[in-house]
Amino acid sequence: MNRLAIARSAILVSEHNLRKHSPTKHLNPNVKNVGVSATVAINDLSNQLRREGREIFKLGLGESPFPVPAPVVEALKNAASQKSYLPVNGLMELREAVAEHHQRQFGINCDPGDVLIGPGSKELMFLLQLVYYGDLMIPSPSWVSYAPQATIIGRDIHRVQTCFDNNWLLVAEELEELCLEDPGRARLLILNYPSNPTGRTYSAAQLEELAEVAQRHGVLVLSDEIYGKLHYEGKHQSIVPMYPVGTVFSGGLSKWCGAGGWRLGVFVFPPELRWLREAMSSVASETFTSTSNPIQHAAVRAFQEGPEIEDYLVDERRILKALGHALTEKLSRAGVKVLEPEGAFYLFPDFSAFSERFLRSQIEDDTRMCEKLLAETGVAILPGSAFGRDAGELTARLAYVDFPGGEALEAARSIPKDERIDGSFLQDHCGRMLEAVDRIIAWIHQAP
Ligand SMILES: Cc1ncc(COP(=O)(O)O)c(C=O)c1O
Repeated sequence: MNRLAIARSAILVSEHNLRKHSPTKHLNPNVKNVGVSATVAINDLSNQLRREGREIFKLGLGESPFPVPAPVVEALKNAASQKSYLPVNGLMELREAVAEHHQRQFGINCDPGDVLIGPGSKELMFLLQLVYYGDLMIPSPSWVSYAPQATIIGRDIHRVQTCFDNNWLLVAEELEELCLEDPGRARLLILNYPSNPTGRTYSAAQLEELAEVAQRHGVLVLSDEIYGKLHYEGKHQSIVPMYPVGTVFSGGLSKWCGAGGWRLGVFVFPPELRWLREAMSSVASETFTSTSNPIQHAAVRAFQEGPEIEDYLVDERRILKALGHALTEKLSRAGVKVLEPEGAFYLFPDFSAFSERFLRSQIEDDTRMCEKLLAETGVAILPGSAFGRDAGELTARLAYVDFPGGEALEAARSIPKDERIDGSFLQDHCGRMLEAVDRIIAWIHQAP
């Protein structure tokens, strides 16, 4: 055989071998049932329906409606020509800015060597779950991606129940009970507050109780404070100073700074857990290498804060607070069980009062409820089962972000900072959100 013939037959053999590949035999069993993240899927579906000409209210994906603050955009413009790979742990200037911010916020000494920068906190969470060899404990409900990440890696997942009457918050006794089941076991607890999906948060006393149990049982805590700056009173409390040796702080630019697509997340470790940071850095160096260079330069400006950023935060908070309050009132008056949010941009309504009417329309669970709601009203929300709740409970998450955030911020700027945002402001600048909730209310009351 000449060389060409040999090469041709080699290609044929490899094509034949490739055809023998199949998902049942060659797909890692951990990823077989994972599917696309619920939030990403609802966003894709909403966009597709919009392209088909339908009017869609996008209350599915939790993306900030607000533009990135002007000084941070300016910093990004100035850094656009930066092209080199950066150190795996992050740009030193940014790590210093994050460490100083940490010190200002929590009054804890922080070394830039304990800061790790990543392409979104979600990626860092995945790396943490990969390198830390322990079971995952999360409250139910909690954010959609913690559990699938554990499933992909092959960790055991324990959901600790919460309930409406307890503000959907984890109670220290429940945590203790789980820890006592197998006292020596290595465990990672992820706490997120203000919470996605409920908008509720912990008081200092509640955090102290959780910290005490976690410390006594040697539980590693990942404190996901990505919505911390969106606490409506600007009074976010953190568990970090209460359990400094065993808590990893997680934050980033995606929510308060409106920069989800920039993909920048930060972790801050206590010096006692430097080994964990180092293990994560090693894996990061073999996977994403480093986080985008210009974005890191811009993030320095965001973490430095200052009056312009403070004004931006005050306006974001008062718009979201007023809107969260108005939507809670509307839903409550319509007979829906829902708690008023204290931060972030989510409501977690419970539609179980309408279960009989839903059954007459063949709606037996929360997924069917959300599918029908989208099909019949154009309002996209996510079922509570995506956040770990029982599908029969008929809960859902509603992200109140479908309004022109830039326009609303501009309008809020001319209202004195100590004044509240009123109903006419909401009607003028967040009208789509009011209409979306009116549509939900009309739909749940409509006779089948
Ligand atoms: C509770 C929570 N944690 C973490 C993230 C991930 O944020 P990012 O990867 O954009 O930093 C999100 C994003 O939706 C979130 O809602």
